[in-house]
Amino acid sequence: MSDHLRPETLALHTGIHRSQFNEHSEAMYLTSSFVFDSAAQAAARFAGNEPGNIYSRFTNPTVTAFEERLAVLENAETCIATSSGMSAILACVMGLLSAGDHIVASRSLFGATVNLFNNILKKFNIDTTFVSATDAGAWEAAVKPNTKLFFLETPSNPLTEISDITELARIAKKSNCWLVVDNCFCTPILQKPLELGADIVIHSATKYLDGQGRVLGGAVLGHRDLLMEGGIYGFLRTAGPTLSAFNAWVILKGLETLKVRMETHAQNALQMAQWLESQANVARVFYPGLASHPQHELAKRQQQSGGGIVTFEVKGGKDAAWRVIDSTRLISITANLGDAKSTLTHPATTTHARISQKARDAAGITDGLLRIAVGLEAVQDLQNDLARGWS
Ligand SMILES: Cc1ncc(COP(=O)(O)O)c(C=O)c1O
Repeated sequence: MSDHLRPETLALHTGIHRSQFNEHSEAMYLTSSFVFDSAAQAAARFAGNEPGNIYSRFTNPTVTAFEERLAVLENAETCIATSSGMSAILACVMGLLSAGDHIVASRSLFGATVNLFNNILKKFNIDTTFVSATDAGAWEAAVKPNTKLFFLETPSNPLTEISDITELARIAKKSNCWLVVDNCFCTPILQKPLELGADIVIHSATKYLDGQGRVLGGAVLGHRDLLMEGGIYGFLRTAGPTLSAFNAWVILKGLETLKVRMETHAQNALQMAQWLESQANVARVFYPGLASHPQHELAKRQQQSGGGIVTFEVKGGKDAAWRVIDSTRLISITANLGDAKSTLTHPATTTHARISQKARDAAGITDGLLRIAVGLEAVQDLQNDLARGWS
């Protein structure tokens, strides 16, 4: 597809390979395996001497269509789809790292990612040093001779801290490490980490890429050599956490509306953040689009807007935070984010409950903290719903 087309056009027209029926909407290929014309063709496909599908754990045309579309949006050479965001992260570390390697990671990561690095990878003799998301000097100081990978989310979950991708890419390159960026909060509509020097982008497609909270999915994007020969695709194809054709189809359709959704999420989130800042019961608001955000200037350079996630601390700790949640009638009490419907969660007892109190304190996840993933509803209705918790 011609590269002068804009993202909203590419999101609608990339990855279309019509069948003999010439369907307008993409076909969904729900099949576990593919049939060969002959034994010789089967042998040629398995030997890699002839292109084509073999088995849906390896490739599937619907999944390929999703991969092509997301790759074009992220400006990536290659995209490999996975069954979830966590399996994208797992594939990345299992493909690229070996026992004895070391990771430097942001202290402000999604709880399951912290758990994976801290507890599961440790069993395989892969250690992680967690550092401040925003202190580039700390990343450089944490590098050891066996460090292979830098891992971050920006904005981070839930505190929306912004890491300087360009600066950390420079340090990673100098240290012979790969920089992996989880781009789940921004999506390629608001931020393109590969263009800023990252080696790999990770997605939980479960979030904004689907956009309606329907299915799980994930993706790893980057240079073909790193993904294909670097062991990531090999791990996925062998171990099996690949994306199903059904989920790929759902997310492929989600991508069609990604730009308009992200723009509205961000406009609504900015209005919510400004309003929350004016509320007497709110101690602090974390939103990169606010001038009060510590990395607001960096966010303006690095992202198209502040995104759709607003985190705020209510006065009165856990009891007050739970009261706000339990008073809502419209906003969904669920830990997912990136849905057209607004969602509200208490990170300390949900997404970040499985990490230690010490790690939560270090990451600034206090008991009064609430995270709202602002949806596409009328902002006034969302404000009325939240205000019930403190009126
Ligand atoms: C920033 C971030 N990365 C990764 C994940 C994991 O994605 P999944 O739930 O699709 O495995 C999540 C999930 O909430 C997330 O918020």
